[in-house]
Amino acid sequence: MKCSLRVCILFLGLLIVFLTSVFFTYTLTGVTNAAYLENQAPEDVDRIKLVPSYLGIQKLTKGPASQRTCACSHCVGDPGVSQWFDEKFDQDILPLWTKTNMILEPTVYNWWVMLQPQFKPQDLKDILTKLFLIVPGENPYGSWNRSRCRRCAVVGNSGNLHQSHYGEDINAHEFVMRMNQAPTVGFEADVGSRTTHHFMYPESAKNLPANVSFVLVPFKTLDLLWITSALSTGKIRFTYAPVKQFLRVDKEKVQIYNPAFFKYIHDKWTEHHGRYPSTGMLALFFALHICDEVNVYGFGADSRGNWHHYWENNRYAGEFRKTGVHDADFEAKIINTLADIGKIKVFRGN
Ligand SMILES: *[C@@H]1O[C@H](CO)[C@@H](O)[C@H](O)[C@H]1NC(C)=O
Ligand SMILES: *[C@@H]1O[C@H](CO)[C@@H](O)[C@H](O)[C@H]1NC(C)=O
Repeated sequence: MKCSLRVCILFLGLLIVFLTSVFFTYTLTGVTNAAYLENQAPEDVDRIKLVPSYLGIQKLTKGPASQRTCACSHCVGDPGVSQWFDEKFDQDILPLWTKTNMILEPTVYNWWVMLQPQFKPQDLKDILTKLFLIVPGENPYGSWNRSRCRRCAVVGNSGNLHQSHYGEDINAHEFVMRMNQAPTVGFEADVGSRTTHHFMYPESAKNLPANVSFVLVPFKTLDLLWITSALSTGKIRFTYAPVKQFLRVDKEKVQIYNPAFFKYIHDKWTEHHGRYPSTGMLALFFALHICDEVNVYGFGADSRGNWHHYWENNRYAGEFRKTGVHDADFEAKIINTLADIGKIKVFRGN
């Protein structure tokens, strides 16, 4: 009797365990089957993809005024114009390297130190801290603002500027950005005379007038040591080529390009075409992130397909396309797409 009661309890316990497991198996199978069927149905696959953009459109049509990011007629930052653009654009990565973002993420750091791997990396934080005693190391640009219309001209060095008469239009922008050599004296009618930002690396550096921002594009820690030296002791005269021992530029306006932003362009926009993006791309995306309207001059070949600089007489001089470091065709494609969706205007000159 005692024994059979025990057996009974044991049997009851086993029955409960069995029933519970059957119940859960049934429920789980049901759910799995439902999910499986849903994924199999073609219209459901589409619906899964379409839902987010559909919601995006809903939001836009509900309150278009609240989506405006500036006071220009078209704002670079306005969402909902192009899914391609919105998916790539990241306004959280600051274009400038400042006191607030000195420490690079490991993935950024590892990529950046391999750009010119013959140079040993050194203690970045220490070097930047010393540099930011000489130059401000701050972000002066503010953020998007519905009462601001900041128009920027990004001026490349293409020979298509020759006889373009863009000078006055270029000068009329709040920011005028140039890169590397970019002489203006003698070319004012075509390229303008104003410059607010000049993008250079140590080996291409030149002196700049007051009020112009020298934007250093660093490829190695030695570049940071160089600019510190060139604005103070003049110790460094050589990297892989002779560099200016002293730099006459407005120290208050010196800015350092953020390697994280550099990598963001390489990952998201040029998508690893070329070893790294050209200085033209670096300046263009810098503008897209700090301006409300971006107009592009002097990019690409001239109307005869020649790559040369506007200050060179030799139409066949341009070497840009043949270097193999940058992918000129892919970069041209990005510029065309940005123009097609109205994020930039491209002035193609002659
Ligand atoms: C917005 O931009 C205008 C014009 O540049 C400026 O006067 C104003 O201070 C800005 N407002 C904010 C909140 O940044
Ligand atoms: C520099 O900028 C300030 C303020 O924007 C302006 O008043 C001054 O005239 C400029 N100086 C030169 C040399 O362009």
